[in-house]
Amino acid sequence: MDEQYSFLKQIDPESSNLIKGLQQIQAVEGYVSDDAIRAAAEYFNIPEVEVEGVLSFYAQFKRVKPGKYQICVCDGTACHIKGAPLVHEWLKQELGLDPGETDADGIFSVETVACLGCCSLAPVMSVNGKVYAKLDRKNLKKILKEYAEK
Ligand code: FES
Repeated sequence: MDEQYSFLKQIDPESSNLIKGLQQIQAVEGYVSDDAIRAAAEYFNIPEVEVEGVLSFYAQFKRVKPGKYQICVCDGTACHIKGAPLVHEWLKQELGLDPGETDADGIFSVETVACLGCCSLAPVMSVNGKVYAKLDRKNLKKILKEYAEK
């Protein structure tokens, strides 16, 4: 097994621990790469295709490397009603990204998440955990510009 994934050795290599192993990989690398799939398959003695099956079944796992700035657009009920689909449209126009995508430079990635817990401030998104509320096109542009210039 690739030395990069030696942290898996802290987990018992029972096949029932596969999800735990994949969670660990994602915690370390931010996503589960093709190399990580190979390493997990080898370590837990499970065919790669089965590991991929588990990854596609559970929404918690990311297969695309996240950007330096991870944009999470809330699509809970309140945010959906107050414009989450529009926020995605603006992000598509500004960054060319749909949910689940990362830009070519690895700066921004976009994903959809469930309620961020501040529904009265909808529509809401977070960037690397920092919450931005009452989004409109103008303040979204400003927020993106600030991160792009960091
Ligand atoms: S629905 Fe978006 S914060 Fe609750």
